[in-house]
Amino acid sequence: MKNFIAASLIAANFWNLEKEFKRLKESRVGWIHYDIMDGHYVPNITIGSCELDSLVKKSSIPIDIHFMVSNPDEIVPLFVKKYKNLNVVNITVHLEVCSNIPKLSRLIKRAGIGFGLAVHPSTPIKNIYKFIRYIDLALIMTVKPGFAGQKIITSCIKKIKALSTYLKHNNLEIPIQVDGGIKSDNVSRLTSAGANIIVSGTGIFKTNDYKETVKEMINSFPGK
Ligand code: DX5
Ligand code: ZN
Repeated sequence: MKNFIAASLIAANFWNLEKEFKRLKESRVGWIHYDIMDGHYVPNITIGSCELDSLVKKSSIPIDIHFMVSNPDEIVPLFVKKYKNLNVVNITVHLEVCSNIPKLSRLIKRAGIGFGLAVHPSTPIKNIYKFIRYIDLALIMTVKPGFAGQKIITSCIKKIKALSTYLKHNNLEIPIQVDGGIKSDNVSRLTSAGANIIVSGTGIFKTNDYKETVKEMINSFPGK
């Protein structure tokens, strides 16, 4: 499985998003990671469909939406309807709050979009195993969801190892995404534990040269 970087947009400079996208385009980021928070599941509110309306038309970089909302069963279908056939490649919801995972998975996949399931740092990784056949991606949160710029919770790394072993054991090719507190100096700890899609916000946007930062991250992938 090919590893890649996803840039988490909430850490970008929203005063000049066009420039941010140009700079990302010059780098080798694979996805834009788009955090939607509701002020309820997490103590923060971020971007939503107004901003996404513009981005899906303009971004040539595929968009991955990470929903941190307490009612994904209600809200996600509206997004799927609106953004299918646009540049949205994956939609992830939190396992802890999704009441009908098989149903939501079917709806998202039918629209040609990947379905991801996220695990909060306080949720045991084994809770995802029973849903494994419904998912296209597993997101292991490495900070408490809600804010960019937090420090990584290193105890989450053992969850990556456990899930990676479980997937290998069951002959499953599902990418493991990690999100929160990831910078070029800790990427290799995550990839060597088995992570494939590395989300980074401040680790990219608070550096001067995105192209160089992303290159540094990619260079620390195993086998590079
Ligand atoms: C946290 C978000 C992350 C966050 C990443 O709730 O889901 O995507 O923006 O930002 P950094 O990389 O700065 O932790
Ligand atoms: Zn996120």
